[in-house]
Amino acid sequence: MKKRIVLLPGDGIGKEVIDSAKDVLSAIAEEFNHSFSFDTHEIGGAAIDQYGTPLPETTVEACTQADAVLLGAVGGPKWDNNPSHLRPERGLLGIRKALDLYANLRPIKGFKNLLHASPLKEEVVSGSDLLIVRELTGGLYFGTPSERRDNGNAVVDTLSYSRSEIERIVDKGFQAAQQRRGLLTSVDKANVLESSKLWREIVEEKKAQYPDVAVEHVLVDAAAMKLITNPTQFDVIVTENLFGDILSDEASVLTGSLGMLPSASLREDGVGLYEPVHGSAPDIAGKGVANPVAMILSTALMLRYSFKLDDEAKVIEDAVQSVLDAGFHTADLQVADGRLVGTFEMTKLIVDYI
Ligand code: NAI
Ligand code: MG
Repeated sequence: MKKRIVLLPGDGIGKEVIDSAKDVLSAIAEEFNHSFSFDTHEIGGAAIDQYGTPLPETTVEACTQADAVLLGAVGGPKWDNNPSHLRPERGLLGIRKALDLYANLRPIKGFKNLLHASPLKEEVVSGSDLLIVRELTGGLYFGTPSERRDNGNAVVDTLSYSRSEIERIVDKGFQAAQQRRGLLTSVDKANVLESSKLWREIVEEKKAQYPDVAVEHVLVDAAAMKLITNPTQFDVIVTENLFGDILSDEASVLTGSLGMLPSASLREDGVGLYEPVHGSAPDIAGKGVANPVAMILSTALMLRYSFKLDDEAKVIEDAVQSVLDAGFHTADLQVADGRLVGTFEMTKLIVDYI
């Protein structure tokens, strides 16, 4: 299989872990006789420094023509005081919108052999295995008007969704539940918000199309509580942009290690952008100690969702588990009888397994 992959390293440890992704994909290509070509472009702070904008036209164009995009992370203290149009995150929001990546999927699952690192009680989080499906290109983050009024003393943000925007993400949620344990939790605030009322109506309408999926509706505040008091009750959670942003960060503490969590952002035709959940980690950037696993597992998601290469994805996931089982770990993880390694060694161990 021949595929064109755009690499967007971004900032901080993004630059380090994107190299790991490339090494792993090269190993997969060799082992399974695929041809992956890589094309690197700037986004975020790096792009601001070089081109004066967080999302250069050349980057958008390259991503538009690619079969899939891998992104490291954007941001850092250097750009924290920039005006909002010159913030690294603008690059991320912009590329999601430009590629119409409306579905963000975050699997959250503990790994065997990692010592309990979550701040939550082990008996509470043990066995949790869930997928958050978040709407990514609508809602509050994109609604207009979004502005200051009354000389800056009043503000307005707009939460707006169309029926078709809700339908396509709800479908993604149902489909994901079909492929997993068959339970879909739709999270909304239908007791207050008009947008949530339509959301809930659409979920109810769609139920008949997916008779093999059990559906429940949970209000977002209750969902936030249940996620940390009883996370094993969830299989697939589908929700709008802002709620999904908050709940997915909350859920990331279930496994206790930000460096292990991948994500996929998808369009209807399978084109996707894959990135670790963590940020650019300025505190450890440039030291060669970042955990590359979240990035490497993101490449596995790319193979599975964009290229339908399920066996290859599985090999990467097995490689990660096997290296952890052997006791190797980066500084952010604790492993029984562990052997501490850096980004490069961790990557090489995974590549060797492949
Ligand atoms: P962060 O995820 O960068 O770091 C939080 C903590 O986790 C830090 O102590 C960091 O060293 C550690 N950490 C994160 N990833 C790690 C890995 N792979 N291996 C080992 N340790 C890891 O979040 P923070 O500090 O809130 O944000 C830093 C910058 O990243 C900010 O500029 C923020 O805006 C940006 N950011 C970007 C994201 C993205 O590109 N998608 C997402 C979140 C934050
Ligand atoms: Mg977030």
